[in-house]
Amino acid sequence: MAKPKVAFFCQHCGYESPKWLGKCPSCGQWNSFAEEIVAPASRPSASTRKSTSPVSLELVRTAEENRIRIPDEELNRALGGGLVQGSLILLAGEPGIGKSTLLLQMALQLQQLQILYITGEESEQQIRMRADRLGLTHPTFYLLAETDMQAIMKVVHQLQPNLVLVDSIQTLTTPLLGSPAGSVGQIRACAAIWQEYAKASHTPVILVGHITKDGLIAGPKVLEHIVDTVLQFEGDRQYVYRLLRTVKNRFGASFELGVYEMADRGLKPVSQPSALFLHQKEEVFSGSAVSATLEGIRPLLVEVQALVTPALYGTPQRTVSGLDLRRLQLLLAVLEKRGGFHLHTQDVFLNIVGGLHIEDPALDLAVVAALLSSYEDVSISPATCFAGEIGLSGEIRAVSRPAQRIAEAARLGFQRIFLSRYNQDIPSRPEIDVVLVGKVEELYQRLFQ
Ligand code: TYD
Ligand code: MG
Repeated sequence: MAKPKVAFFCQHCGYESPKWLGKCPSCGQWNSFAEEIVAPASRPSASTRKSTSPVSLELVRTAEENRIRIPDEELNRALGGGLVQGSLILLAGEPGIGKSTLLLQMALQLQQLQILYITGEESEQQIRMRADRLGLTHPTFYLLAETDMQAIMKVVHQLQPNLVLVDSIQTLTTPLLGSPAGSVGQIRACAAIWQEYAKASHTPVILVGHITKDGLIAGPKVLEHIVDTVLQFEGDRQYVYRLLRTVKNRFGASFELGVYEMADRGLKPVSQPSALFLHQKEEVFSGSAVSATLEGIRPLLVEVQALVTPALYGTPQRTVSGLDLRRLQLLLAVLEKRGGFHLHTQDVFLNIVGGLHIEDPALDLAVVAALLSSYEDVSISPATCFAGEIGLSGEIRAVSRPAQRIAEAARLGFQRIFLSRYNQDIPSRPEIDVVLVGKVEELYQRLFQ
C-alpha cells in the first residue's frame, strides 16, 4: 500500500508546511506544528467532473428566492434575512455562552421542517432535557449522537433532512485522517464534507465551533474560509445579555447584530436593546460616562465606569473589562502626554456595564470622560453622552452615522451629546444639545471648568 502523504499544520492558524517548523511563518506561534495525514485528493479528476460549460448570468438561479424565514427576528437579522438553502454556517463562541441553546431553540420553532441534530458533546437525554426546559417540542426533529463522519453521512443520506445542525465540529472525525478530533486537519476535512453536502443537497448546515478566550483552538479561524457565514455569539457568562455578531456573510451584510437575553427558559430576543446597558441609579457618582455607540448598525448606549486612585505600591495597575487593554493604555498615554494629566501615578480600573465587549471606536470619548471624571472626582450629568474616537495627538475624530447616534440618545431622554467637531452633517434637534469638541483639553474644559 502506498504510504499516506503527510503534511504539517500550524494548530494555531492552519498554515501548511511540508516539514516541521519551530515557529510558524504565518502567525509567529512557537512549537505549534503537528503532523496530519493529508487525505487522498478528494477533488474529482478533470475527466470525471461534470461538463464544464459556461452559463448565462441571467439564467443562474439565486438562493435568495427560497430563504427559510426563522420566527426569531434577531437570528434572521444576523443571517441577512433568513437561512439560505445550501449554505454552510458557523456559529462560533466560547463554551457555555449558549450556542446549543440558540440552535435548539431555533430548530424547534421551525415546525414544518425535518431537522437532524448531530450531537458529539451531549447525550440525547441532555438535549431532551434542554428542549423540555425551553418548553418546545417538534414532530420531525431527529437526534443523532455520533462523531464518525462516515456513519453520520449514511444517516444524512437516508433521512434527507431540510436542516442539519452539528454540535460541535470539533468532536467530528473522518477515518481518512489519523489525527484526533479537534485537530486542524480533522476540522478542515469534516467541514469540507459538510460544504460539499450542503451545496449538493441544497440543505442548510449549521456548525457549532468553540473558541477559547484568546481565540485559541484554531477550529473557527480555520473554518472561516470554508463556510459561507460566520456568526459569533458573545457576552459575559456572569451577565444575561448575549450579542450575536455577523463576522462574515456571503448572503448579507457582515456587520449585523442580534441581541438576546439568557432567561430561565431559553434566549429571549431583545428588539430594542439601546437602553439595556444603562445603569439605573438614583445617585450620580464620579467616574461614570455614557457612550452613544453603534454596534454594526444598531445603536447601543452603554455606560463606562472608571476608577482612578493613587497607586500605593510599585507599578500602577491597569485593569479593564469590556475593552481592549491596549486601547486603555493608549488613551492613558494620550491623556498624559497631550492633556498633562499625571495618570502614571494612578491605578486605573475600567469597566463597561453589562459585560459587553464594545468594538466601536466612538467609545473612546466616553472612556476618557469617565477617566477624567474619576481623576477629578467630579461627576458628569447623567443626561450627557459621548461619541468620538481619540487620535494619538489628542484630537477627537469624527464617528460614523452621527445623526443616528443623536436620534437614539434624544429618544432615550439624553439632553446633551459630545461629538467631534470634525463630524459633518449634524442635524439640529430642539430636545438635545450637541457639543462639538476638537481636542481632549476642550472636553476637559467643557466638562469640569
Ligand atoms: P449552552 O447552550 O449549553 O452553551 P454552549 O453550547 O455555548 O456551550 O448553555 C449555556 C448556559 O446557558 C448554561 O450554563 C445554562 C444556561 N441556560 C439558561 O440560563 N437558560 C436556559 O433556558 C438554558 C437552556 C440554558
Ligand atoms: Mg453546547
